[in-house]
Amino acid sequence: MKYVELNSGDQMPLLGLGTWQLRGEKCTKSVKEALDIGYNHIDTADGYDNHQAVGRGIKKANIDRKELFITSKIKPENLHYDDIKADAERFLDELEIEYLDLLLIHWPNKKIPLKESLKALKEIKEEGLAKNIGVSNFTVNHLRDAMEIYPDLVAVNQVEFHPTLYQKELLNFCQENGIVLTAYSPLARGEIFENEVINKLAEKYNRSASKLALKWLIDKNIVAIPKASSSEHLKANFDLFGWELPAEAREKMDQLNQDNRIIDPSWAEFNY
Ligand SMILES: NC(=O)c1ccc[n+]([C@@H]2O[C@H](COP(=O)([O-])OP(=O)(O)OC[C@H]3O[C@@H](n4cnc5c(N)ncnc54)[C@H](OP(=O)(O)O)[C@@H]3O)[C@@H](O)[C@H]2O)c1
Repeated sequence: MKYVELNSGDQMPLLGLGTWQLRGEKCTKSVKEALDIGYNHIDTADGYDNHQAVGRGIKKANIDRKELFITSKIKPENLHYDDIKADAERFLDELEIEYLDLLLIHWPNKKIPLKESLKALKEIKEEGLAKNIGVSNFTVNHLRDAMEIYPDLVAVNQVEFHPTLYQKELLNFCQENGIVLTAYSPLARGEIFENEVINKLAEKYNRSASKLALKWLIDKNIVAIPKASSSEHLKANFDLFGWELPAEAREKMDQLNQDNRIIDPSWAEFNY
């Protein structure tokens, strides 16, 4: 595993398991299997309705809590002060853990003052219920707002990011301000396998399209959280260390941006 340092000094694993749409026994099995393979980072959210199943997978894997990095997210409708405070406690109960490594605002919500949400999150961090605080689906302007309220509170911004949605300006802003970027849908929800350029590179360098796309991210110090449920995919996505991404592959993937945003729900504030 490789790590990136957060503004708290904590080390965040550059690869994690995404769990959106994993539920019940299937979710528990995938989480346990991932941890058995060597993953040590799990991404969940209240909105995925799988905290208990993730928690059972963690318990079954029987790994020292200190070795794990667990992220969850607060729903955009629950961003009032009291709701956040109650959610943090509930998440820990559901996951059966004592603290989260990272707690994120899942989506910005202009109907609830950011100052109120960040105050609650800051207290949660001070109380030790979450070691780090972050956001998700924030634009540069949202991040600027957050930094004006508390300059160093936001440690991570989790956004959609893959070669066909190469958000360079957002990445630069985050990295210049000590905010780690996490890439969700790093395989473009499977579209990576239909990309002609990446497929040609995969053939030439004898590495799968998914490995090239994930390596492209982690080489930029971007955390990647691919979701996988089959053993085959879990193992394949873990094989990212101990080999180099050829410069030609990096340069060609750097040229693939099409502003191809796949996740764009009605409540998103991407134009802010
Ligand atoms: N913050 C947010 O708003 C937000 C939004 C979206 C996602 N996320 C997070 O990001 C995670 C990942 O994103 P995502 O689930 O949208 O998409 P993704 O990781 O880009 O793609 C997942 C799909 O790729 C398949 N796959 C995985 N590894 C593969 C491999 N080696 N070869 C072939 N197919 C492979 C999976 O199949 P199998 O399941 O069959 O293995 C699944 O169908 C989510 O699970 C969630 O944790 C966050």
